[in-house]
Amino acid sequence: MQAKLDELIKAARAEIAQAHSPNDILNLKAQYLGKKSVLNSLYSELRSLNPEDRPAFGQKLNDARIQIEGFLFEQEKSLKLKAWEQKSQVSGIDLSMPGIIRQRGGLHPLTIIQREIEDTFMAMGFEIAEGFDIEDEFHNFDALNTPEDHPSRNLADTFYLDNGFLLRTQTSTVQVRVMESYKPPIRIISPGRCYRNDKPDPSHSPVFSQVEALVVDEGISLSDLVDTLQHFASIMFGGKVRSRIRPHFFPFTEPSAEMDISCVNCGGTGCRVCKNSGWLEMGGAGMVDPNVFQILGIDAEKYSGFAFGLGIERIAMLKYHIPDMRILFENDLRMLRQFS
Ligand code: DAH
Repeated sequence: MQAKLDELIKAARAEIAQAHSPNDILNLKAQYLGKKSVLNSLYSELRSLNPEDRPAFGQKLNDARIQIEGFLFEQEKSLKLKAWEQKSQVSGIDLSMPGIIRQRGGLHPLTIIQREIEDTFMAMGFEIAEGFDIEDEFHNFDALNTPEDHPSRNLADTFYLDNGFLLRTQTSTVQVRVMESYKPPIRIISPGRCYRNDKPDPSHSPVFSQVEALVVDEGISLSDLVDTLQHFASIMFGGKVRSRIRPHFFPFTEPSAEMDISCVNCGGTGCRVCKNSGWLEMGGAGMVDPNVFQILGIDAEKYSGFAFGLGIERIAMLKYHIPDMRILFENDLRMLRQFS
């Protein structure tokens, strides 16, 4: 028996070493380890042995199987290696050379936040409207009921172009464009860049982004504005955040308001971020002024509407704990990589 086994191992070793292809390996595996193999038939002979000899011989059979499996494994490995070496010689390519790692791009934090804002409003049934960065005085001021002598029209605040156009100072221009072209019911938001002649500082930048919202329909009231703001705040900052509006003035809304949310840093108890007030300013809002409806040919007796404008940088800074707005425009890769 033992002699038979030694013979078998010897033969297997010699034959497996001659294998040239994966197919040879498969055949040899069947031949030496398969159902019809000699080894398998030896297992059936176990029964004819004395019970006390069985364990020792069984163990020998197992060892032989493990050895043959080892021969097969090693030969297969060396065949693969040879094939690989041949291939790289033929193509002249060194397959062992490390690859080039391609850097993946990521979205800018402002883009991430803008998309989140868009998703939140789209889920509420809003559509996205687009406007122009270069505008005229009619869409940026006149149609928004802004008097000729309003300070925002000043050269010190607004970038005027030589051709009589200007860089829009607010996304409210899109309210005008939408109301010129569409009849109520209207429910849009419009995110985009705005430009003002401001010196860059931790909370100002001459280029910044707003998202404008406009809803016009029959029976729209201030409570619709309050509800929309609260829903938006809870989606963006979590269910615990509260919101409020405070009286303010804008030429194109009556009444006008400023919108606040409870401080997302301290929860409203007062901290450095909210300057101990417990509240954070989010932007301007109000009910569309009937004068604006009149300028744009919408029946102010039949329709009412609310509008608001939020600062996107402000939201990004709060969500990502960015202490200085300028960081958002420097494109320092160490900052940007944190978002990819
Ligand atoms: N456009 C205003 C600004 O840039 C913000 C604003 C206030 C937008 C009231 C509105 C609004 O839609 O109703 O300061």
